[in-house]
Amino acid sequence: MPQRSGIGVLGFGNRVGGLVAQLVASNPQIELVSVCDPAPGSVKAAQAMAPALQVCADPAEMLQNPRVGWVLIGSPNQFHREHASLAMRAGKHVFCEKPLATNLSDCLAIRDVVRETSRSFFFGLVLRYAPLYTRVRALLDEGSIGEIISVEFNETLGFNHGGYIHQDWRRHRAAAGTHMLEKCCHDIDIVNWMVGSRATSVASFGGLRFFTPANRHIADEIGPNPANGRRAFQDWPQSNHDPFTLDKDIVDHQVAIIEFANGVRASFHTNCSAAISERRLLLLGTRGAIRADLNTGTVELQKLGWDEPRIVHRVTSTLADHAGADAQLVVALADWILRSVPPRTGIDHALDSAITCFGIDQALDERRVIEMQPLWKKAGIG
Ligand SMILES: NC(=O)c1ccc[n+]([C@@H]2O[C@H](COP(=O)([O-])OP(=O)(O)OC[C@H]3O[C@@H](n4cnc5c(N)ncnc54)[C@H](O)[C@@H]3O)[C@@H](O)[C@H]2O)c1
Repeated sequence: MPQRSGIGVLGFGNRVGGLVAQLVASNPQIELVSVCDPAPGSVKAAQAMAPALQVCADPAEMLQNPRVGWVLIGSPNQFHREHASLAMRAGKHVFCEKPLATNLSDCLAIRDVVRETSRSFFFGLVLRYAPLYTRVRALLDEGSIGEIISVEFNETLGFNHGGYIHQDWRRHRAAAGTHMLEKCCHDIDIVNWMVGSRATSVASFGGLRFFTPANRHIADEIGPNPANGRRAFQDWPQSNHDPFTLDKDIVDHQVAIIEFANGVRASFHTNCSAAISERRLLLLGTRGAIRADLNTGTVELQKLGWDEPRIVHRVTSTLADHAGADAQLVVALADWILRSVPPRTGIDHALDSAITCFGIDQALDERRVIEMQPLWKKAGIG
């Protein structure tokens, strides 16, 4: 049997552990060769998949292994710069989970290493692989709503999802970056893709109003989940910390407005304790409108006119795997590793979404409109 393509994983947690399980199960030519993760439980999960794999105390040990051609990075965001840079400098191709890094200088450092080393860099903006968004993009490409004039989009998270974020390492900006960056960089990227332009001005308000000690009684009043006895807001399997503590520095709700270079204007809303969870995109154009919601798997197209029918596309989706996007991403990862097919999402998309988020959070922190040009200039973009 020819030698299999070897992958190494830096940070074998829920996300990349889950992707690798699907990747190796569906591609016998790909072998999980090496893992580096300080958590014994994560290493055990990797060993369950590949009993003979190399377990490394630090990334350098993995990167010396010639059997590792591709490194997949699923560590907390604060480590992405170090892990991606070391791996590419060691000659490995890299898949890095979103967001790119927690601050602009780390993002630019990764971009510089991609340029210097010419390694292939696959960035985990999984929603570009969601069948629902590819359908919306195709409708735009067909000209079905003409030119986009304005956009409304949101990510309102179910209350247990929000509770998970507010108990995890994601609640610390030092580890994760802001909520906008860590969670909503996907949504910003999708709108960048649909609008086909970059933000020129942004403004934002947000804060922490729900996941505070004063609201802990709401969990008591809702009571435990009758199905499994787990406490409200902590129904995700990994949720073992009380999300109503103040040892965190992220927001639990935020709104933003964005003006793009091509004149499109957009508004965004995120909330971490929603009773109605949506990932909805409303695009209003010169000839019609598209409304799409990833959570219901529905795309509606309405042309401007007197008797135009509302065309409803049902794009099958389950929320569990990013509405079908994870399966498509796994196919893309296999194509990338086995057949050198370039990824759909790379360093440029990573930077565009991260920098837009940095501008939005600067606007929130400084309570003023931020002109994006200096940020793009700093990054040498545009
Ligand atoms: N694309 C998506 O939709 C999506 C979804 C979830 C998470 N993510 C991203 O994936 C990454 C991991 O998130 P997760 O939900 O799997 O978190 P997680 O906490 O489940 O996993 C993180 C893993 O990294 C390990 N780790 C911590 N420090 C490390 C270090 N210095 N070196 C190596 N490993 C280290 C932890 O022990 C853990 O096993 C994050 O960047 C997150 O933003 C992306």
